[in-house]
Amino acid sequence: MKKTKKLLVMAAAMALAACTLTACGGASSKGGDTLTFGTNAEFPPFEYVTSSGAIGEFDGIDMAIAKQIAEDNGQTAAIENMEFDSLLVALQNGQIDAVIAGMTATDERRETVDFSTPYYTATQVMIVKEDSDIATAADMADKKICVVQGYTGEVCVQDMGYSYEAFKKGTEAVMELTNGKCDVVVIDSATAQKYVGDNEGLKIVEDPSAFESEEYAIAVQKGNTELLDKINKSIDKMLADGTINELAVKYTEETTAE
Ligand code: ARG
Repeated sequence: MKKTKKLLVMAAAMALAACTLTACGGASSKGGDTLTFGTNAEFPPFEYVTSSGAIGEFDGIDMAIAKQIAEDNGQTAAIENMEFDSLLVALQNGQIDAVIAGMTATDERRETVDFSTPYYTATQVMIVKEDSDIATAADMADKKICVVQGYTGEVCVQDMGYSYEAFKKGTEAVMELTNGKCDVVVIDSATAQKYVGDNEGLKIVEDPSAFESEEYAIAVQKGNTELLDKINKSIDKMLADGTINELAVKYTEETTAE
């Protein structure tokens, strides 16, 4: 009898430990007062680290949107900053409630997560040196191309059949370009503008016939319709009343003005 009781206590303790490990109803939303967003704060004007941002040290268009979504639901937004490649895994593990990271809603990603209503339209562009002869995507054929690992820009260049070098951060790829070690960086338009504003001697080359437009959306766990509905309500409101437009203007100016 004594032994059974001990076993039961142990089983209960183990269940509890398992629960905290998988965060059942713990840090994750499910009615809690914190809504935890995962991001990769290496992507101005959408997310970057600064002294005092919209959410703690994190600022940018996405951070302001995340803050508002949480507020609309009587919650506080928290940010978990991680590598871009880790975001969808962290979402599936329940480590974060949602991903807001200038993330393009692609069919491939839709296989593992659900996406909100899109809130921003972007496209891939090419950053080159001012004197570059690259005028179209096809001109990249015999050039040294740099991309950021896991970004849709990498997928585009891959699909075009070109070889390339992938970096962990946009700033690293751009440094390679300014140092003359690569000829072109393929990356999202608004972020490219920011980098061109920050670095002398660079320009943007667009090729809309080669790069399709992309839509940024917030990702939630597959089937989490409760959270998705809340997020969509907030986004719809912010799209309709011009909030997202204003944020885009504000942060684009702010981050290119420095
Ligand atoms: N839009 C691109 C993608 O979905 C790049 C996003 C990068 N975002 C970031 N926070 N680092 O792959």
